[in-house]
Amino acid sequence: MIDLQVKVVKNYAEMSKLAADMVADLLKRKPTSVLGLPTGSTPIGLYEELVKRHQEGLDFSKVTTFNLDEYQGLAADHPASYHYYMEEHLFRHINVPREKINIPDGAAADAIEACRMYEEKIAGVGGIDLMILGIGTNGHIGFNEPKTPFGSTTNLVSLAPATIEANARFFEREEDVPQRALSMGIKSIMNCHKIVLLANGEAKAKAIAAAIQGPVTEALPASVLQLHPDCTFIVDEAAAGDLDNE
Ligand code: PGA
Repeated sequence: MIDLQVKVVKNYAEMSKLAADMVADLLKRKPTSVLGLPTGSTPIGLYEELVKRHQEGLDFSKVTTFNLDEYQGLAADHPASYHYYMEEHLFRHINVPREKINIPDGAAADAIEACRMYEEKIAGVGGIDLMILGIGTNGHIGFNEPKTPFGSTTNLVSLAPATIEANARFFEREEDVPQRALSMGIKSIMNCHKIVLLANGEAKAKAIAAAIQGPVTEALPASVLQLHPDCTFIVDEAAAGDLDNE
C-alpha cells in the first residue's frame, strides 16, 4: 500500500515552479503555516520562485519556519553554514518575521540539549504543515544517513563519508568540512503533515528509484516516505531515469 505521489517534470525550472505552487497554495489557504525547509543545491530554484512570488504579493508575515539541519561547529555567519545559506537565498528577501525563523543551533555548547529543545519547539507550534526535502545520492534525508533508526528525533549525527565528500565543494580545505550536524530525525520528518521531496539530475536517479520502488529500509532513509500518508516526490526526467514504468 504505497500512498506516494510521484510527479515527473521536464527539468529543474519546472520542478522549482511546481514546488513553489504547492507552497503558495498552502500559504493562501493557511497564512499561519509552519514550513520545514531544506538547504543544498536542489531548493535554490524553489527559493528564487518564492522570492519572485513574494515580490508579487505572496505574504510570509504569519509563517513559521523550521530548517531541517545545520552543521555542528559553524557559527551563523560562516558562509558555509545553513543559517547563512537561508539568509542569502530566502529570508532576507521575504517578510517572514525573525522570531518565527528556526534553525538548529550549530554553535550550541550543548548540542544534545539544543536538539531536544528544537523538537519540543516543533511540537509546541502544532507540528510542521509542509516539509520540503532534498535527497542525498545515498538516499539520506536531512542529515539522516543510511542506518539511521526510523524512530529518531532531532539529534546530533555523524555525516557519512559520501556526504562529507559531496559537501567539500563548499569549503576551502577538506579538513574544514564538518563531520557532524544537528538534524531533525526520521520520526520528526514523518510527523510532518505533508511532505514534498525534490530531486533533479542523473546523480539522484538511483536514490530516487530505490526510495520509491525499493524496500522500505533504514539502509535507504528516503524509502520511509513510502509509509507517509501525504508525500509527493517532484523529480525531473533525469532523476526519474531509473524508475521502472509499471
Ligand atoms: P543537494 O543535496 O540538494 O545539494 O543535492 C541534497 C541532500 O544532500 O539532501
